[in-house]
Amino acid sequence: MLGTVQLGMVAALVVVLVPMGMAGWHLSRNKMLFFSGALFISLAVGVHLSTPFFPSSLSSFFVSSLSSAVVVFDSRRHSCLSLLHDVVWNLTLSDSNSSSLHYHKSWSWPNSSSSCNFQTLSRSDASDLLNGSWIVVAGDSQARFVALSLLRLLLADSNSFDSAKVDLFKRHSDYQTLIPEIGARLDFVWAPYADNLTDLVAAFRRRSPPDVLVINSGLWHMLRVTNESDYALSLKKLRDSVVSLVPYSPELAGDGTRSQAPALQPHLFWIGMPTLINSMLNTEEKREKMTDERRGSYDRQLWKSKLLRQSGGPLLMLDIESLSWNCGVRCTEDGMHYDLPVYEAAVQIMLNALLIDSHQKL
Ligand SMILES: *[C@@H]1O[C@H](CO)[C@@H](O)[C@H](O)[C@H]1NC(C)=O
Ligand SMILES: *[C@@H]1O[C@H](CO)[C@@H](O)[C@H](O)[C@H]1NC(C)=O
Ligand SMILES: *[C@@H]1O[C@H](CO)[C@@H](O)[C@H](O)[C@H]1NC(C)=O
Ligand SMILES: *[C@@H]1O[C@H](CO)[C@@H](O)[C@H](O)[C@H]1NC(C)=O
Ligand SMILES: *[C@@H]1O[C@H](CO)[C@@H](O)[C@H](O)[C@H]1NC(C)=O
Ligand SMILES: *[C@@H]1O[C@H](CO)[C@@H](O)[C@H](O)[C@H]1NC(C)=O
Repeated sequence: MLGTVQLGMVAALVVVLVPMGMAGWHLSRNKMLFFSGALFISLAVGVHLSTPFFPSSLSSFFVSSLSSAVVVFDSRRHSCLSLLHDVVWNLTLSDSNSSSLHYHKSWSWPNSSSSCNFQTLSRSDASDLLNGSWIVVAGDSQARFVALSLLRLLLADSNSFDSAKVDLFKRHSDYQTLIPEIGARLDFVWAPYADNLTDLVAAFRRRSPPDVLVINSGLWHMLRVTNESDYALSLKKLRDSVVSLVPYSPELAGDGTRSQAPALQPHLFWIGMPTLINSMLNTEEKREKMTDERRGSYDRQLWKSKLLRQSGGPLLMLDIESLSWNCGVRCTEDGMHYDLPVYEAAVQIMLNALLIDSHQKL
């Protein structure tokens, strides 16, 4: 007969191996599985050891310890995902003269989210995480800044960063780079309208999709088309296209029901619109068309489109609005594009979300 200790060890193994297997299934195309595996194991074993009762039947013992591990895991995953954007900014006056003030800008996660173990990934962590991956960032200039921040994190050599920056910022152009040290590829695709993104996703359906896809649209439509019902239609087409790209189980939003772990491959992110500071926008046309009211109604179309995971869709929102709002007026010169630390925060949030999603860290 098996003693309690042996039983416990067998159950612990099952609890450890089953979710590890799930992680491998989600991420079989790249190396993410191996990142922070140790953290995951300690959590799974910890959950098992704190299960307070030992039912006599072997099978119910397995079932109860397994499901309690998954429930705890899943609800913590959700609460940690929702805390990711609560960052605290530290703007310190570093240098000033009569005509300009210079601030040193940094951000961090507050102590209140310490149980989620968010971590600002170093170059080597990020390299481990993205080793062998293909990352596509597509959209407007906000997406370009996100791509730039990701490159700044990944490229060891500042000369290659500077030359990448020049290429990346050629107006309205695409950009591709290989990062040979980690066998990763980063593409930026200039795609200012949702229709351009729909075309891109359709092309991925014909060949293979990237491992990580980060997209956005909105500001160009607001300025050039200025019609929120047309924007809504284009988002709907985009959503249909993205949904047919990935088999995923929608999360049950808002009703407190436990959701399925999303089987997302590729990992999908949406870059939200920034805070627009109307008086700082640099043309009369922008000040006239990109009002707070219109921004609000464009945002409502986005939420209604069910593109975002937070509203039952496939893409996890990187909330540039809250990041830029909290960094504030000192972090922008044109009321629309923000200083790099804002986009660096978005990149770190994305990488932490990847870790949480791949069930490796809580
Ligand atoms: C804010 O940043 C400055 C400059 O980097 C640093 O000296 C200071 O300790 C930071 N303050 C907090 C509260 O982190
Ligand atoms: C103030 O500092 C900025 C940036 O360092 C510099 O470009 C500018 O010339 C300085 N102005 C004066 C009056 O020193
Ligand atoms: C946050 O944690 C640090 C280090 O653990 C501590 O020094 C600091 O006082 C804490 N801050 C708050 C606001 O609790
Ligand atoms: C990337 O993965 C390859 C093969 O798995 C490995 O040889 C290499 O050391 C890794 N590089 C980094 C930077 O992790
Ligand atoms: C994006 O879509 C617009 C409108 O459908 C089209 O005119 C434009 O050529 C497209 N741009 C790119 C880069 O595909
Ligand atoms: C706005 O877009 C919708 C859908 O494309 C179209 O039916 C409508 O006529 C447009 N409104 C204006 C004022 O252009």
